[in-house]
Amino acid sequence: MPSLTVPLRERAYTVHIEPGFSGLGPTLQGEGVRRVVVVTEPVVANLWLSTLISELEGAGILVQHQVLALTEATKTFDLWRECVEGLLELGVDRRTVVVALGGGVVGDVAGFAAASVLRGLRIVQVPTTLLAMVDSSVGGKTGINSTKGKNLIGAFHQPMLVWAPVCALQTLEEAEYLAGFGEVIKIALVADAALFAELEVHAAPLLERSPDALMAVIQRSVVLKAEIVASDEKESGLRMVLNAGHTVAHGIEAASGFQWRHGAAVAVGLVAEARWAERQGHAAGVVERLVPLLRRFQLPIDAPETRAESVLVAMRLDKKNADAMLIVPVPVEVGRAELIRHPISQLAELIEGLSCVAFNPSC
Ligand SMILES: NC(=O)c1ccc[n+]([C@@H]2O[C@H](COP(=O)([O-])OP(=O)(O)OC[C@H]3O[C@@H](n4cnc5c(N)ncnc54)[C@H](O)[C@@H]3O)[C@@H](O)[C@H]2O)c1
Ligand SMILES: [Zn+2]
Repeated sequence: MPSLTVPLRERAYTVHIEPGFSGLGPTLQGEGVRRVVVVTEPVVANLWLSTLISELEGAGILVQHQVLALTEATKTFDLWRECVEGLLELGVDRRTVVVALGGGVVGDVAGFAAASVLRGLRIVQVPTTLLAMVDSSVGGKTGINSTKGKNLIGAFHQPMLVWAPVCALQTLEEAEYLAGFGEVIKIALVADAALFAELEVHAAPLLERSPDALMAVIQRSVVLKAEIVASDEKESGLRMVLNAGHTVAHGIEAASGFQWRHGAAVAVGLVAEARWAERQGHAAGVVERLVPLLRRFQLPIDAPETRAESVLVAMRLDKKNADAMLIVPVPVEVGRAELIRHPISQLAELIEGLSCVAFNPSC
């Protein structure tokens, strides 16, 4: 089955894209893992925890687990503390490995807990959403939301291994599944014109969740992400292109009290930022291909119920702000992005035309 390496010098690791969980136990056993604590949340625990436990126990690994009420709205200090205290309660030591079983929320919180407990436990990411398989499980960004904004507290903590069991995608709710394509389309837009064209032509098998089509698209997305992460692990330059759409997306998510799905917010953010780039003369012909592709995957292109003022307030707090300038990754054409510095004082330009609940009270 496809596996690839994220080439981070002494911290290189393998991403396994597999039909299911089978093989994970022997793989970890071969890496010298003897004891793990699985961190997950109730929905995924009901569906997949017992399969994972059997797989690991079958390889002679001692398995303990923690089920936390993790959602985007609870991706906070409280749940992070519960996770950390829970791990300590179980008496973990430096050799214990944390296994994050779930979507991006579980991966981010468990990852940040693993980065903190005993100054760093190893972590295995087992992503169960499309978004987590193509994006959040790879690259080592972990963290939680603050009352001041999304993902403002966290750490870089690379996993020792990523195992994506593609069968888990069959149990995802439709809207959740589709939201993952927000990140797939993002990476194609900023880094791979061929993948973008492929998605335009071959959406059908993906919409039907064909395992073969999924394996191929996950593999392609992860290769792209791994290349970008390897060239800029701590996000001081090129890696920022992966934040395309995210300045506006994080604003929308925070303004909605984190009720929006991340991938859906990214879709809206991509359109808003691409429209802005076209108005500024940085890009041409992107929106006319981006909008139909997002629609094909039933993703939103606008946020009509969101207050533009609230989005703007949240955007001002975005962690990517450097001095008085914001760095906005701009798709200058399909498949290629550039980083543009934009004054924070003119942030509102990015969401012009985004929503009717906007600056013009008469609309
Ligand atoms: N660290 C990074 O680099 C990075 C990158 C992108 C996104 N993120 C973060 O990831 C989060 C979004 O992740 P997400 O979209 O996976 O959301 P999520 O983790 O909230 O999962 C979405 C929903 O799917 C359910 N679910 C998960 N797996 C399932 C399965 N196999 N079957 C049925 N239901 C399942 C969950 O219970 C949840 O309700 C955001 O917090 C975002 O900030 C992080
Ligand atoms: Zn994202």
